Amino acid sequence: MTKTLIVTGGAGFIGSNFVLMLAEQRPEWNIVNLDALTYAGNLENLTAVEDKEGYTFVHGDITKPLDVERAFDEASKLGGSVSVIHFAAESHVDRSIVSGLPFVETNVCGTQVLLDVSRARGVERFVHVSTDEVYGSLGATGFFTEETPLQPNSPYAASKTASDLMVRAAIETHKFPALITRCSNNYGPYQFPEKLIPLMIANAQEDKPLPIYGDGMNIRDWLYVRDHCEAILRVFEAGKLGDVYNIGGNNEYPNIEIVKRILAGVGKPESLITYVEDRKGHDRRYAIDAQKIKDELGWEPRFTFEEALPLTIAWYQSQDTWLQRVRSGAYREYYAAQYG
Ligand code: NAD
Ligand code: DAU
Repeated sequence: MTKTLIVTGGAGFIGSNFVLMLAEQRPEWNIVNLDALTYAGNLENLTAVEDKEGYTFVHGDITKPLDVERAFDEASKLGGSVSVIHFAAESHVDRSIVSGLPFVETNVCGTQVLLDVSRARGVERFVHVSTDEVYGSLGATGFFTEETPLQPNSPYAASKTASDLMVRAAIETHKFPALITRCSNNYGPYQFPEKLIPLMIANAQEDKPLPIYGDGMNIRDWLYVRDHCEAILRVFEAGKLGDVYNIGGNNEYPNIEIVKRILAGVGKPESLITYVEDRKGHDRRYAIDAQKIKDELGWEPRFTFEEALPLTIAWYQSQDTWLQRVRSGAYREYYAAQYG
């Protein structure tokens, strides 16, 4: 039977990679991309699919029930069973430290609107894309499992945790057919250059300083975006309704090591590294135990960091026009406020 997927946030970094992958791997499925096109949403990412039969873009805001209804109307026209893959979010920790309200509006209220309309419309499955940041911060050892208590530290992480709990409440109260994924830090093509890896590549290319927060020893578990997209598809197709799945790369590095590798990859000197004031409430270490998704669904990352970091650097080097366009306007204003 035909499937129609409503992908929220399909013009963002992970969402656009997911839509492009789906068009390749499940060409018979229909896709309705519901996106508000905030500073992080860029339809240029999707030129390869914009004319594909069965692909529709709906410019709409998940906090507005009528916009979400419109996406469902488009999905009904395309036919088949309708499911939701929910990426749309305010996603940047630093922005949430400056102003938390947009995070509550989109991540908490928007998710609730989406849950309500999806339930009324009888969706087949709903995958809520969440983050390892809901678990808080680790010391030098240990890993986040699906059972780790939720202890978010930033306004972004708190808003994602609240959205996870609203999804859980829908599952428990209404037997709503949802699943939750919690992933570590992604990198790869189309990532907005305010996050660590694309920001450092872009700055290095232009011989600008590379700002490292604090001592540079905060650790993240890096996962290539294509691996994350494949894991989400696997969870969508085979995950157990009501369950949570951690997704990680087994790939922990301190920030300073990432930045040194980028400089080496771009062929620029380490003298560009500039230590700046630490992020407020900066989580020290994230590390994911992804044993459950491996055992139950057979998913493991395919790309190593040694392969995929050079691929990512090469992508940004070949996409100078994309980068310049993205870096103009709103991004510049934000950049000036954040780094002076
Ligand atoms: P992103 O910021 O690149 O993209 C977010 C997208 O959502 C944009 O296209 C934006 O226009 C859209 N959007 C924002 N508010 C909206 C609204 N009110 N209505 C409709 N659309 C709206 O984010 P990303 O990095 O691609 O992250 C996608 C999802 O994955 C998020 O839920 C995030 O929490 C989660 N996640 C991200 C990472 C990561 O490393 N980037 C890791 C784990 C989980
Ligand atoms: O762990 C998953 C999360 O990863 C996702 O839920 C978020 O949406 C995503 O943005 C990301 O959050 P982080 O805060 O970990 O990512 P970011 O790229 O902002 O920062 C990564 C690390 O690099 C973090 O320790 C802060 C540091 N950093 C970041 C920037 C932007 C710097 O040292 N300098 C910088 O300029």
